[in-house]
Amino acid sequence: MSYYKVHSLEQYFKHYNKSLREPRKFWDRIADENFTWYQKWDKVVEFDMQEAEIKWFLNAKVNITKNCIDRHLAKRGDKTAILFEPNNPKEEAQHISYNELYDRVCKMANVLRSQGVEKGDRVCIYLPMIPELAVAVLACARIGAIHSVVFAGFSASAVASRVNDSECKMVITADGGFRGNKTIALKEIIDEALEKCPTVEKTLVVKRTNTNVNMKEGRDLWLQPLLDKADANNVAEIMDAEDPLFILYTSGSTGKPKGMLHTTAGYMVYSAYTFKNVFAYEEGDVYWCTADIGWITGHSYIVYGPLLNGATTVLFEGVPSYPDFGRFWEVVDKHKVTQFYTAPTAIRALAKENWEWVNKYDLSSLKVIGSVGEPINEEAWHWYNDHVGKKKSPIVDTWWQTETGGIMISPLPFITPTKPTYATLPLPGVQPVLMDDKRNEIEGNQVVGSLCIKFPWPGMARTIWGDHQRFKETYFSAYPGKYFTGDGALRDEVGYYRITGRVDDVVIVSGHNLGTAPIEDAINEHPAVAESAIVGFPHDVKGNALYGFIILKESGESRDRENLKKEINEHISSHIGPIAKLDKIQFVTGLPKTRSGKIMRRILRKIAEGDFSNFGDTTTLLNPEIVEEIKDNRI
Ligand code: PRX
Repeated sequence: MSYYKVHSLEQYFKHYNKSLREPRKFWDRIADENFTWYQKWDKVVEFDMQEAEIKWFLNAKVNITKNCIDRHLAKRGDKTAILFEPNNPKEEAQHISYNELYDRVCKMANVLRSQGVEKGDRVCIYLPMIPELAVAVLACARIGAIHSVVFAGFSASAVASRVNDSECKMVITADGGFRGNKTIALKEIIDEALEKCPTVEKTLVVKRTNTNVNMKEGRDLWLQPLLDKADANNVAEIMDAEDPLFILYTSGSTGKPKGMLHTTAGYMVYSAYTFKNVFAYEEGDVYWCTADIGWITGHSYIVYGPLLNGATTVLFEGVPSYPDFGRFWEVVDKHKVTQFYTAPTAIRALAKENWEWVNKYDLSSLKVIGSVGEPINEEAWHWYNDHVGKKKSPIVDTWWQTETGGIMISPLPFITPTKPTYATLPLPGVQPVLMDDKRNEIEGNQVVGSLCIKFPWPGMARTIWGDHQRFKETYFSAYPGKYFTGDGALRDEVGYYRITGRVDDVVIVSGHNLGTAPIEDAINEHPAVAESAIVGFPHDVKGNALYGFIILKESGESRDRENLKKEINEHISSHIGPIAKLDKIQFVTGLPKTRSGKIMRRILRKIAEGDFSNFGDTTTLLNPEIVEEIKDNRI
């Protein structure tokens, strides 16, 4: 019996139980039957969840790009691998076949090698959503370089801190990028970032917008002339199962971003398996995920998962509102998209517009529609179900994280009955548990708690780049022996999971995971600011927005408040990126603190939400009077 694809609810339970009872056999079979290996493993898994040491498919040898590209060539060489839909609908779409992808990745891999990149080196990729982005990712994987894609909306200093943290040797960027009716000067941002990045030796630049850019002698090279000269064949590097594949930064609740490290074989097996099942992928489908490759969703479900399955994956450069609010649906209609995967924030933004934008187009090709990145509220779920899915294409509400590498809890389309706002059941191989405040596992149904996973799965991150101690403390210490997700969840009467949101200091704004600490650090650097506290509050399109409580220094007191607010937001934009801007700023004379000096964010969250009913236990507050003042002046 093959475990690669679940065909019925009964089979789901069979596979699930098998994965509980015999996880090694379960994953052994999947890995064995569905991939090309240079050498198989000696052992399926070895782990110590106390020490956060996890290894899968020990001593196996593999190259993920051989599995994404080479092995498909005989059967699917002419099939479209990447379907590129440009920002401007008047620019022609590109159908990049598996044969062509092979050529492009090999050439790029050869260019990287000729520019001194070797196995284990880190390469930062800062590109718009153009085919070169996917090609660069795959080319790194082909030669064993570790890619670190940084979302092209991050500011120069955010890029610099990521480049420096992983000591990247090279940056791959573009002259600029198109986003709706705007052009973003990416090379200029990189130039500024690289002033502070001593490890970067070379920058490769893709021409996209034809903007004038500075090319630094000895460092910067246009990519195309190098590709034109490169050989279209490349022997893939033989990678150990646990060799690093990529680093992807995600926000933490403290300090600097965490470079989550994913390794080769486990990630490959997990992204392929979850893609196949969650999207009910069949040969001939045209699959579209609207995320950016700068996030984990794009890594696993634009590039790796689909290509590992020999699928056609749409790569969209634009935004949902350009040239109008019908763009998503126009693209679905134009390319006869069968699976459509997006974020609740996009759904809510589009649901605000006239539904005629949807009805103008023929969406009958759609089979499955998905949601990811944050809890989807009931109203948005129904709008998506009624207007996009037409009540016939099931919604897969997929819960997972940068750290998990792939989808963990989700309905399987046509198999698991859906329930609005519920991610429903864990995928085979995933063992979720809910924990109470006393660190006990909560048994039974109709319960709420902190969501943990109690057994390793192949796709999980292995460490934080350069800081294993932080990895252990963040994910494996709160509930010893278990992986702690940072999310709260409830389990209903039939065992379905609903994710209720973060229980730490991470706020999800428009689907972007933002740590409040780095934003506070950025604000506190403003010369007029003494101290600040950032919390999230509900927002009808973004899901959450940010509310800043800010104490000014004496020198800042006399400043015009509106100008200051603007300056603070500009400051955040340049330190982190526009996605981290504050929606509301309230200047305060103090912050509610415990005697040990910790800010009581729980109270600030309630005030930001406009809920003054119950602040909980405030007896440990050092300065209870400040709560009244903040409440009275709430914006
Ligand atoms: O809080 C959960 C939320 O997004 C967090 C992970 O964010 P990130 O690492 O940026 O990855 C996003 C894409 C996988 C989670 O801890 N989240 C993600 N998916 C859902 C979700 N919350 C509720 N429902 C979901 N389907």
